[in-house]
Amino acid sequence: MLIKIKGSWELKENQITSLKDYISRRGFIKNAGIMGAASAASLMSSNLALAEESLSTVSNLYDGHDIMDEKTDIKAVRGYNNYYEFGMNKDNPARYAQSLVTDPWRVKVNGACENPGDYNVEDLIDFNALEDRVYRMRCVEAWSMVIPWIGVSLSEVISKLKPTSNAKYVYFETLADPKQMPGLSRGIIKWPYREGLRMDEAMHPLTIMAVGLYGEKLANQNGAPMRLVVPWKYGFKGVKSIVKISFLEKEPNTSWMRLAPQEYGFYANVNPNAPHPRWSQATERRIGDFRRRDTLMFNGYGEQVASLYSGMDLKRNY
Ligand code: MTE
Repeated sequence: MLIKIKGSWELKENQITSLKDYISRRGFIKNAGIMGAASAASLMSSNLALAEESLSTVSNLYDGHDIMDEKTDIKAVRGYNNYYEFGMNKDNPARYAQSLVTDPWRVKVNGACENPGDYNVEDLIDFNALEDRVYRMRCVEAWSMVIPWIGVSLSEVISKLKPTSNAKYVYFETLADPKQMPGLSRGIIKWPYREGLRMDEAMHPLTIMAVGLYGEKLANQNGAPMRLVVPWKYGFKGVKSIVKISFLEKEPNTSWMRLAPQEYGFYANVNPNAPHPRWSQATERRIGDFRRRDTLMFNGYGEQVASLYSGMDLKRNY
C-alpha cells in the first residue's frame, strides 16, 4: 500500500547529515590528494554549503507542469522499484539489494574515446558540482513518479572521457554478480542489463548521472552508486549501478530490445500516441494519486528535446 504524505520531501536534518557523510567519504579523499589536508578541509566545507544550497532548491521542473507535479513520497521512491537483478516484484529490490557492495566501485570505459580505462566513481563524478534535478519518471508500465535526483550532467562525465568523432552512441552495463544479485538466477533478461543513448541524447543538458535522491546518496534499489536518468524517455532507459561505459559507432542492442523488439525500441521516448502492443500509453497512474492522468509527449520535456528527433517517425522509432 502506498500512502502519500504531504510535505514528505522536505529535508530532514538526518538526510542532510547523511549526504555530508557521503560527500566527505567520496569527495574529501580525492580533494585531499590534490590539495593537501588543510586546504582540502576548507574546500570540503564550501562543497557542503554548495550541496546544501542546491538541495534547498525547490523545483527544477523545466516546463511549467510543476503545479500538478508533487514529489513522490520517498517511501514509494525507495520501496516500489524495478531492478530485476533483485527479483521481479516491486518490493524485491528494497528487500534484497541491501547487501550490494557499492564502495569501492569500478567503472570500465572503452570504445571510441581518448581516455579508456578503469575508473573509480569519484574519478567520473565531480562531487563538488552535484546538482538538484526534480524530474518526472514515466515507466513503460504506465505508472509514474516525480523524483528529486542529485547528480551531474552526463555530458560532464562524457567530456572527461573524450569520445572521438567515431563515437555515435554511448552504451552502459549494470553489474551482473550472481553472488550479490539473486534475480540473475532467473534468465528473464540476458544479463548484464544494457542500455544506450545516441550521443546527442547523452550530451543533452537534461540527461544526468544520478548519485543521490531526496538529499541522500542513492539507495541500492535505486541504482547505487550511479545510475542514468533520462527524463523524457521511459524509465527502463535509466540503467542502474553502472559498471561499464562504451562509446560505439553503431546503435547498440539493448536488453529490452533483445527480449521483445516488437515491444521495446532503442529510443523509448515517452509517447502517448504510440501504444505498447499490450496496453495504451495515453494515460498513467502517478504513484500516490487516485486518478489517472494524461501522459505528456516526451514526458512533458518536448520544448527541450523534440528538436533531437525532427524528421523522425516516432511511431516507427519507438
Ligand atoms: N536497471 C537495471 N539494471 N535493472 C532493471 O531491472 N529497471 C528499469 C530501470 N533501470 C532496471 C534498471 C526500469 S523498468 C525502471 S522503470 C527504472 O529503472 C526504475 O527505477 P527506480 O526503481 O529507481 O524507480
